[in-house]
Amino acid sequence: MPETAEHGTPAGAPPDSLTPLLRQRESVMVYDRTYVISPADLRAILEAARWAPSAGNSQPWGFVVGRRGDETHRRIVRVLSTANQAWAPAASAIIITLHQVATDFDHEIAYSDYAMFDLGQAVAHITVQARSMGLQVRQFGGFDHRAANEAFTVPPHWTATTGIALGRPASHGEEAALPGWVQQRSRLPRERLPLEAFVHASRFGHPADFLTDP
Ligand SMILES: Cc1cc2nc3c(=O)[nH]c(=O)nc-3n(C[C@H](O)[C@H](O)[C@H](O)COP(=O)(O)O)c2cc1C
Repeated sequence: MPETAEHGTPAGAPPDSLTPLLRQRESVMVYDRTYVISPADLRAILEAARWAPSAGNSQPWGFVVGRRGDETHRRIVRVLSTANQAWAPAASAIIITLHQVATDFDHEIAYSDYAMFDLGQAVAHITVQARSMGLQVRQFGGFDHRAANEAFTVPPHWTATTGIALGRPASHGEEAALPGWVQQRSRLPRERLPLEAFVHASRFGHPADFLTDP
């Protein structure tokens, strides 16, 4: 496995210092298309979002949840990009995330500049909760946001933001049913910038000393 010059951390694999839930998280493209997620498990995963922190406890997030085989799922699949239609429908559930974009004076929920940040954090909680239950997610932005807002009558002070495919990873060999480009992409090595590229001290672009201390 290739190594980064900086620390000998293997590129493509998170380090052992991470909690196993994060070490084993990855954006899976190949899902077990027979696995049905139970309502209780789906609720547990959404509870993880519910209990995420948010600015002023504004909780400016929403989730349109389609389970494979139901009408919501079919309507979500219709608005996905062609590329995402190739792999996402096999997941047990597809979720369209929403965040608040303006104040709704009728309901007195003040818009917060941190709304999209808070949604992202809630989705991060979903990824970790899902992993703890043996599941994985792949988030995606490739869908027609306007069509999603229309399909689910999202009010003007909210908007569709991202998608989440959620399911049980397929065992090896099951990817054969997917187009070749999906199989190839799902096997690409995972890459990350080194810490030095984004952990700053004293001024932007100046890496912190502790990164190089033994
Ligand atoms: C906001 C967002 C949008 C993304 N859009 C897509 C997408 O449209 N299609 C797709 O296949 N993956 C999409 N991804 C998945 C990323 O490509 C993936 O997280 C990245 O390659 C890192 O892979 P890893 O999570 O396995 O480390 C998206 C992820 C995020 C967070």
